[in-house]
Amino acid sequence: MPIVTTKEMFQKAYEGGYAIGAFNVNNMEIIQGITEAAAEVKSPLILQVSAGARKYAKHVYLMKLIEAAIEDTGLPIAVHLDHGDDFEICKSCIDGGFSSVMIDGSKHSFEDNIKLTKQVVDYAHARGVVVEGELGKLAGIEDDVNVSAEDASYTDPAQVEEFVTRTGVDSLAIAIGTSHGAYKFKPGQKPQLRFDILEKIQQRLPNFPIVLHGASSVIPEFVEMINNNGGKMPDAIGIPEDMLRQAAKMAVCKINIDSDLRLAMTGSIRKYFAEHPDHFDPRQYLSPARAAIKELVKKKIINVLGCDNKI
Ligand code: G3H
Ligand code: 13P
Ligand code: ZN
Repeated sequence: MPIVTTKEMFQKAYEGGYAIGAFNVNNMEIIQGITEAAAEVKSPLILQVSAGARKYAKHVYLMKLIEAAIEDTGLPIAVHLDHGDDFEICKSCIDGGFSSVMIDGSKHSFEDNIKLTKQVVDYAHARGVVVEGELGKLAGIEDDVNVSAEDASYTDPAQVEEFVTRTGVDSLAIAIGTSHGAYKFKPGQKPQLRFDILEKIQQRLPNFPIVLHGASSVIPEFVEMINNNGGKMPDAIGIPEDMLRQAAKMAVCKINIDSDLRLAMTGSIRKYFAEHPDHFDPRQYLSPARAAIKELVKKKIINVLGCDNKI
Protein backbone atom coordinates (compact mmCIF):
# COMPACT_ATOMS: atom_id res chain seq x y z
CA MET A 1 0.00 0.00 0.00
CA PRO A 2 1.58 3.33 -1.04
CA ILE A 3 1.00 6.64 0.78
CA VAL A 4 -2.49 7.84 -0.24
CA THR A 5 -4.11 11.26 -0.50
CA THR A 6 -7.15 12.24 1.57
CA LYS A 7 -9.47 12.60 -1.44
CA GLU A 8 -11.19 9.24 -1.25
CA MET A 9 -11.01 9.14 2.58
CA PHE A 10 -12.85 12.45 2.85
CA GLN A 11 -15.50 11.59 0.29
CA LYS A 12 -16.38 8.38 2.13
CA ALA A 13 -16.21 10.13 5.51
CA TYR A 14 -18.55 12.88 4.31
CA GLU A 15 -21.08 10.41 2.98
CA GLY A 16 -20.74 8.10 5.98
CA GLY A 17 -21.07 10.78 8.69
CA TYR A 18 -17.71 10.14 10.30
CA ALA A 19 -14.29 11.83 10.41
CA ILE A 20 -10.71 10.70 9.88
CA GLY A 21 -8.25 11.27 12.73
CA ALA A 22 -5.22 13.37 11.88
CA PHE A 23 -2.63 12.60 14.52
CA ASN A 24 0.61 14.57 14.97
CA VAL A 25 3.75 12.45 14.92
CA ASN A 26 7.20 13.25 16.27
CA ASN A 27 8.97 9.93 16.88
CA MET A 28 8.85 6.16 16.42
CA GLU A 29 6.82 5.28 19.52
CA ILE A 30 4.08 7.76 18.60
CA ILE A 31 3.92 6.47 15.02
CA GLN A 32 3.79 2.85 16.17
CA GLY A 33 1.15 3.49 18.84
CA ILE A 34 -1.15 5.28 16.37
CA THR A 35 -0.71 2.93 13.42
CA GLU A 36 -1.05 -0.24 15.50
CA ALA A 37 -4.31 1.09 16.93
CA ALA A 38 -5.69 2.02 13.48
CA ALA A 39 -4.70 -1.38 12.08
CA GLU A 40 -6.50 -3.22 14.89
CA VAL A 41 -9.76 -1.36 14.33
CA LYS A 42 -9.39 -1.13 10.54
CA SER A 43 -9.33 2.63 10.24
CA PRO A 44 -7.95 4.91 7.51
CA LEU A 45 -5.45 7.36 8.93
CA ILE A 46 -3.78 10.73 8.48
CA LEU A 47 -0.36 11.20 10.07
CA GLN A 48 0.60 14.85 10.23
CA VAL A 49 3.95 16.49 10.69
CA SER A 50 4.43 20.06 11.91
CA ALA A 51 7.39 22.34 11.18
CA GLY A 52 8.48 21.68 14.78
CA ALA A 53 8.31 17.91 14.24
CA ARG A 54 10.47 18.21 11.11
CA LYS A 55 12.96 20.29 13.05
CA TYR A 56 12.99 17.81 15.95
CA ALA A 57 13.15 14.50 14.07
CA LYS A 58 14.14 15.55 10.49
CA HIS A 59 11.88 15.06 7.49
CA VAL A 60 13.69 11.95 6.26
CA TYR A 61 13.41 10.08 9.59
CA LEU A 62 9.68 10.72 9.89
CA MET A 63 9.12 9.77 6.26
CA LYS A 64 11.02 6.48 6.64
CA LEU A 65 9.24 5.66 9.91
CA ILE A 66 5.86 6.27 8.27
CA GLU A 67 6.85 4.13 5.29
CA ALA A 68 7.85 1.39 7.75
CA ALA A 69 4.46 1.69 9.48
CA ILE A 70 2.66 1.35 6.13
CA GLU A 71 4.70 -1.75 5.31
CA ASP A 72 4.06 -3.17 8.77
CA THR A 73 0.30 -2.53 8.91
CA GLY A 74 -0.81 -2.35 5.26
CA LEU A 75 -2.97 0.66 6.19
CA PRO A 76 -3.96 3.45 3.77
CA ILE A 77 -2.13 6.41 5.34
CA ALA A 78 -2.04 10.02 4.16
CA VAL A 79 1.04 12.03 5.16
CA HIS A 80 0.18 15.66 5.76
CA LEU A 81 2.09 18.85 6.58
CA ASP A 82 0.41 20.50 9.57
CA HIS A 83 0.32 24.33 9.59
CA GLY A 84 2.69 25.10 6.72
CA ASP A 85 3.12 28.83 7.01
CA ASP A 86 4.83 29.68 3.73
CA PHE A 87 5.19 28.36 0.19
CA GLU A 88 8.73 27.02 0.78
CA ILE A 89 7.83 24.55 3.54
CA CYS A 90 4.86 23.29 1.50
CA LYS A 91 7.09 22.83 -1.55
CA SER A 92 9.70 21.01 0.50
CA CYS A 93 7.10 18.57 1.88
CA ILE A 94 5.50 18.03 -1.54
CA ASP A 95 8.93 17.38 -3.09
CA GLY A 96 9.76 15.16 -0.11
CA GLY A 97 6.85 12.74 -0.62
CA PHE A 98 3.93 14.06 1.47
CA SER A 99 0.50 13.44 -0.07
CA SER A 100 -1.17 16.44 1.54
CA VAL A 101 -0.13 19.86 2.85
CA MET A 102 -1.79 22.56 4.87
CA ILE A 103 -1.02 26.15 3.98
CA ASP A 104 -2.11 28.16 6.99
CA GLY A 105 -2.58 31.69 5.72
CA SER A 106 -5.04 32.53 8.48
CA LYS A 107 -2.80 35.23 9.96
CA HIS A 108 -2.86 37.16 6.65
CA SER A 109 -5.55 39.38 5.17
CA PHE A 110 -8.28 37.58 3.16
CA GLU A 111 -6.67 38.60 -0.15
CA ASP A 112 -3.13 37.62 0.89
CA ASN A 113 -4.41 34.31 2.30
CA ILE A 114 -6.05 33.58 -1.08
CA LYS A 115 -2.90 34.52 -3.00
CA LEU A 116 -0.60 32.34 -0.89
CA THR A 117 -3.01 29.42 -0.74
CA LYS A 118 -3.53 29.46 -4.51
CA GLN A 119 0.23 29.47 -5.10
CA VAL A 120 0.52 26.28 -2.99
CA VAL A 121 -2.53 24.68 -4.64
CA ASP A 122 -1.10 25.25 -8.13
CA TYR A 123 2.22 23.63 -7.17
CA ALA A 124 0.58 20.76 -5.22
CA HIS A 125 -2.13 19.83 -7.71
CA ALA A 126 0.38 19.64 -10.56
CA ARG A 127 2.08 16.90 -8.50
CA GLY A 128 -1.00 14.99 -7.29
CA VAL A 129 -0.90 16.44 -3.77
CA VAL A 130 -3.97 17.82 -1.98
CA VAL A 131 -4.14 21.07 0.00
CA GLU A 132 -5.91 22.20 3.19
CA GLY A 133 -6.42 25.94 3.68
CA GLU A 134 -7.60 27.85 6.75
CA LEU A 135 -10.06 30.69 7.25
CA GLY A 136 -10.59 32.16 10.71
CA LYS A 137 -8.10 32.18 13.59
CA LEU A 138 -7.89 29.63 16.41
CA ALA A 139 -6.71 30.61 19.86
CA GLY A 140 -3.90 28.65 21.53
CA ILE A 141 -0.28 27.73 21.02
CA GLU A 142 1.31 26.21 17.93
CA ASP A 143 5.06 26.17 17.27
CA ASP A 144 5.62 28.72 20.05
CA VAL A 145 3.18 31.19 18.48
CA ASN A 146 0.51 32.04 21.03
CA VAL A 147 -2.77 33.43 19.69
CA SER A 148 -4.74 34.92 22.57
CA ALA A 149 -8.48 34.33 22.86
CA GLU A 150 -8.99 38.03 22.08
CA ASP A 151 -7.06 37.75 18.80
CA ALA A 152 -8.87 34.59 17.73
CA SER A 153 -11.82 34.95 15.37
CA TYR A 154 -14.53 32.64 14.12
CA THR A 155 -14.69 31.79 10.43
CA ASP A 156 -17.06 34.05 8.54
CA PRO A 157 -19.44 31.79 6.54
CA ALA A 158 -19.92 34.59 4.01
CA GLN A 159 -16.26 34.22 2.92
CA VAL A 160 -15.95 30.47 2.47
CA GLU A 161 -17.30 30.02 -1.08
CA GLU A 162 -15.10 32.77 -2.47
CA PHE A 163 -12.06 31.38 -0.64
CA VAL A 164 -12.58 27.82 -1.87
CA THR A 165 -13.42 28.83 -5.43
CA ARG A 166 -10.54 31.25 -5.88
CA THR A 167 -7.90 29.03 -4.24
CA GLY A 168 -9.02 25.57 -5.37
CA VAL A 169 -8.26 24.03 -1.93
CA ASP A 170 -9.38 20.45 -1.28
CA SER A 171 -10.42 20.99 2.35
CA LEU A 172 -10.92 23.91 4.70
CA ALA A 173 -9.95 24.34 8.35
CA ILE A 174 -12.39 26.57 10.22
CA ALA A 175 -12.54 28.28 13.61
CA ILE A 176 -15.70 27.51 15.59
CA GLY A 177 -14.33 27.62 19.14
CA THR A 178 -11.70 24.90 19.26
CA SER A 179 -8.14 25.92 20.14
CA HIS A 180 -4.66 24.43 20.27
CA GLY A 181 -3.05 23.06 23.41
CA ALA A 182 -4.25 21.76 26.77
CA TYR A 183 -6.08 24.87 28.04
CA LYS A 184 -8.99 25.38 25.69
CA PHE A 185 -11.50 27.04 28.00
CA LYS A 186 -11.10 29.25 31.05
CA PRO A 187 -11.75 27.63 34.46
CA GLY A 188 -15.51 27.62 35.05
CA GLN A 189 -16.25 28.41 31.39
CA LYS A 190 -18.71 26.02 29.73
CA PRO A 191 -17.09 24.34 26.70
CA GLN A 192 -18.96 25.39 23.59
CA LEU A 193 -18.57 25.11 19.84
CA ARG A 194 -20.38 27.28 17.28
CA PHE A 195 -22.36 24.58 15.48
CA ASP A 196 -24.48 27.33 13.96
CA ILE A 197 -21.40 28.55 12.05
CA LEU A 198 -20.51 25.01 10.95
CA GLU A 199 -24.06 24.56 9.69
CA LYS A 200 -23.93 27.77 7.65
CA ILE A 201 -20.56 26.77 6.19
CA GLN A 202 -21.81 23.35 5.16
CA GLN A 203 -24.85 24.91 3.53
CA ARG A 204 -22.61 27.17 1.46
CA LEU A 205 -20.10 24.42 0.64
CA PRO A 206 -22.14 21.30 -0.06
CA ASN A 207 -20.18 18.03 -0.05
CA PHE A 208 -16.94 19.80 0.90
CA PRO A 209 -14.64 18.44 3.65
CA ILE A 210 -14.18 20.67 6.69
CA VAL A 211 -11.28 20.32 9.15
CA LEU A 212 -11.25 20.90 12.90
CA HIS A 213 -7.94 21.86 14.49
CA GLY A 214 -7.39 22.07 18.22
CA ALA A 215 -9.71 19.14 18.78
CA SER A 216 -8.11 17.26 21.65
CA SER A 217 -10.43 16.42 24.51
CA VAL A 218 -7.63 16.79 27.09
CA ILE A 219 -8.60 13.44 28.57
CA PRO A 220 -8.95 13.86 32.37
CA GLU A 221 -7.46 10.40 33.04
CA PHE A 222 -4.10 11.54 31.64
CA VAL A 223 -4.21 14.99 33.21
CA GLU A 224 -4.77 13.26 36.57
CA MET A 225 -1.93 10.85 35.85
CA ILE A 226 0.33 13.86 35.31
CA ASN A 227 -0.92 15.76 38.35
CA ASN A 228 -0.71 12.68 40.62
CA ASN A 229 2.87 11.96 39.64
CA GLY A 230 4.72 15.20 40.18
CA GLY A 231 3.27 17.22 37.29
CA LYS A 232 1.36 20.47 37.48
CA MET A 233 -1.31 21.07 34.88
CA PRO A 234 -4.12 22.81 36.71
CA ASP A 235 -7.20 23.76 34.75
CA ALA A 236 -6.31 21.74 31.64
CA ILE A 237 -9.56 21.36 29.69
CA GLY A 238 -10.49 20.22 26.19
CA ILE A 239 -13.36 19.71 23.76
CA PRO A 240 -16.04 17.31 25.03
CA GLU A 241 -16.12 14.11 23.00
CA ASP A 242 -19.84 14.32 22.24
CA MET A 243 -19.29 17.68 20.50
CA LEU A 244 -16.56 16.20 18.32
CA ARG A 245 -18.81 13.26 17.47
CA GLN A 246 -21.54 15.69 16.45
CA ALA A 247 -19.09 17.62 14.24
CA ALA A 248 -17.92 14.34 12.65
CA LYS A 249 -21.52 13.56 11.70
CA MET A 250 -21.71 16.92 9.97
CA ALA A 251 -19.28 18.25 7.32
CA VAL A 252 -16.17 17.75 9.47
CA CYS A 253 -14.08 15.03 7.80
CA LYS A 254 -10.71 15.59 9.53
CA ILE A 255 -10.17 16.04 13.26
CA ASN A 256 -6.68 17.05 14.45
CA ILE A 257 -5.30 15.52 17.63
CA ASP A 258 -1.92 16.24 19.16
CA SER A 259 -2.28 17.38 22.78
CA ASP A 260 -4.08 14.18 23.84
CA LEU A 261 -1.15 12.12 22.50
CA ARG A 262 1.30 14.29 24.43
CA LEU A 263 -0.72 13.96 27.63
CA ALA A 264 -1.02 10.17 27.28
CA MET A 265 2.69 9.80 26.69
CA THR A 266 3.76 12.19 29.45
CA GLY A 267 1.23 10.83 31.96
CA SER A 268 2.36 7.26 31.48
CA ILE A 269 6.07 8.15 31.66
CA ARG A 270 5.56 10.17 34.85
CA LYS A 271 3.62 7.28 36.39
CA TYR A 272 6.29 4.82 35.35
CA PHE A 273 9.07 6.82 37.00
CA ALA A 274 7.03 7.39 40.15
CA GLU A 275 6.67 3.60 40.42
CA HIS A 276 10.19 2.72 39.25
CA PRO A 277 12.50 5.53 40.37
CA ASP A 278 15.60 3.38 39.80
CA HIS A 279 14.90 2.44 36.16
CA PHE A 280 16.85 4.06 33.35
CA ASP A 281 16.32 1.91 30.23
CA PRO A 282 14.27 4.04 27.78
CA ARG A 283 12.58 0.90 26.44
CA GLN A 284 11.06 0.31 29.85
CA TYR A 285 9.28 3.65 30.10
CA LEU A 286 8.60 4.13 26.39
CA SER A 287 6.77 0.78 26.12
CA PRO A 288 3.88 1.82 28.41
CA ALA A 289 3.89 5.26 26.76
CA ARG A 290 3.44 3.66 23.33
CA ALA A 291 0.74 1.35 24.73
CA ALA A 292 -1.10 4.35 26.23
CA ILE A 293 -1.09 6.09 22.84
CA LYS A 294 -2.41 2.94 21.18
CA GLU A 295 -5.31 2.62 23.64
CA LEU A 296 -6.13 6.32 23.35
CA VAL A 297 -6.19 6.23 19.54
CA LYS A 298 -8.39 3.12 19.48
CA LYS A 299 -10.91 4.83 21.77
CA LYS A 300 -10.84 8.00 19.64
CA ILE A 301 -11.44 6.05 16.45
CA ILE A 302 -14.34 4.06 17.86
CA ASN A 303 -16.04 6.55 20.21
CA VAL A 304 -15.31 9.96 18.67
CA LEU A 305 -14.33 9.75 15.01
CA GLY A 306 -16.51 6.76 14.03
CA CYS A 307 -13.98 5.62 11.40
CA ASP A 308 -13.45 2.06 12.61
CA ASN A 309 -14.10 -0.73 10.09
CA LYS A 310 -13.92 1.69 7.17
CA ILE A 311 -11.18 -0.13 5.22
O1 G3H B 1 -1.22 22.66 15.95
C1 G3H B 1 -0.13 22.39 16.41
C2 G3H B 1 0.28 21.00 16.69
O2 G3H B 1 -0.11 20.62 17.99
C3 G3H B 1 1.74 20.84 16.47
O3 G3H B 1 2.46 21.37 17.53
O4 G3H B 1 4.08 22.81 16.31
O5 G3H B 1 4.53 22.07 18.69
O6 G3H B 1 4.68 20.44 16.79
P1 G3H B 1 4.04 21.71 17.31
P1 13P C 1 -4.73 19.91 19.86
O1 13P C 1 -3.73 20.80 20.52
O2 13P C 1 -6.11 20.16 20.38
O3 13P C 1 -4.36 18.46 19.93
O4 13P C 1 -4.78 20.29 18.29
C1 13P C 1 -3.84 19.76 17.40
C2 13P C 1 -3.89 20.42 16.08
O5 13P C 1 -4.80 21.14 15.72
C3 13P C 1 -2.77 20.15 15.16
O6 13P C 1 -2.87 20.92 13.99
ZN1 ZN D 1 -3.72 22.84 14.27
